[in-house]
Amino acid sequence: MTRFAGKVAVVTGAAQGIGAATALRLAEEGAVVAVVDLTAERAQGTVDAITAKGGTARAYGCDVADYDAVAAVFATVAEELGALHILVNNAGITRDNLFFKMPKADWDTVLTVNLTSAYNCSHVAQSYMVKQKYGKIVSLSSRSALGNRGQANYAAAKAGIQGLTATLAIELGPYNINVNAVAPGYIATAMTAGTAERVGATPEEHQTQVAERTPLRRVGQPEEIAAVVAFLVSEDASYVSGQTLYVNGGAR
Ligand SMILES: NC(=O)c1ccc[n+]([C@@H]2O[C@H](COP(=O)([O-])OP(=O)(O)OC[C@H]3O[C@@H](n4cnc5c(N)ncnc54)[C@H](O)[C@@H]3O)[C@@H](O)[C@H]2O)c1
Repeated sequence: MTRFAGKVAVVTGAAQGIGAATALRLAEEGAVVAVVDLTAERAQGTVDAITAKGGTARAYGCDVADYDAVAAVFATVAEELGALHILVNNAGITRDNLFFKMPKADWDTVLTVNLTSAYNCSHVAQSYMVKQKYGKIVSLSSRSALGNRGQANYAAAKAGIQGLTATLAIELGPYNINVNAVAPGYIATAMTAGTAERVGATPEEHQTQVAERTPLRRVGQPEEIAAVVAFLVSEDASYVSGQTLYVNGGAR
């Protein structure tokens, strides 16, 4: 498939997990991918995996919580790769704690890295997209946006992503820019392995517990989120905008 031939995609937090799977998927379908993570060295592994499969990608280091750093890196991407058509706001972190024990610093960090980063990247990206009258933005929300014990900071940030998405779709639609969000359930990555560790379980034990209460009776894999992101940034979803698509094995 070459749904993304001639397109340049930026995927943040793409050194591992859902971001890496998304970068690989977009590259497999013909996109030139800017693999962004905290350092270019961290991002290089994903670039190597893409290159090994015959794709084209380049690694960039950037803290997406830093607006000026984002502006500088996106300018470099546009110069080196020729344009910026697709943005996947994927970088994210957790700092879980029951609310009464949650330090202000953990609230601030999670809001900044998960939500303000989406402002930073979308704000910089839209300036390129509006000029070329073409753009696709997909941001990672989460099922936790509906509420999840121990994740007041993360849930607030991921609910914020949904409001940002709905509003950007309204404001950027006239410039032929589609803006959507994906809200995954439990996906087997380093992030959920960290959650398992915090509750005293191995990743496998934790996944088994989650699978038992998931209608499809298993947890999700990063590639299953990548496939949905790829759909939303493709012309197959050309009339889809302002939506949050839950991808969670059927959980309500
Ligand atoms: N894994 C899940 O079950 C799940 C569920 C719902 C939503 N999500 C969301 O999907 C996204 C990816 O999750 P994952 O499980 O692959 O996570 P992960 O922890 O495996 O990977 C996150 C990546 O983001 C990078 N990153 C973190 N802070 C950054 C920053 N400030 N600047 C640049 N890069 C940064 C990390 O270095 C890492 O490579 C996140 O937004 C997460 O909240 C994950």
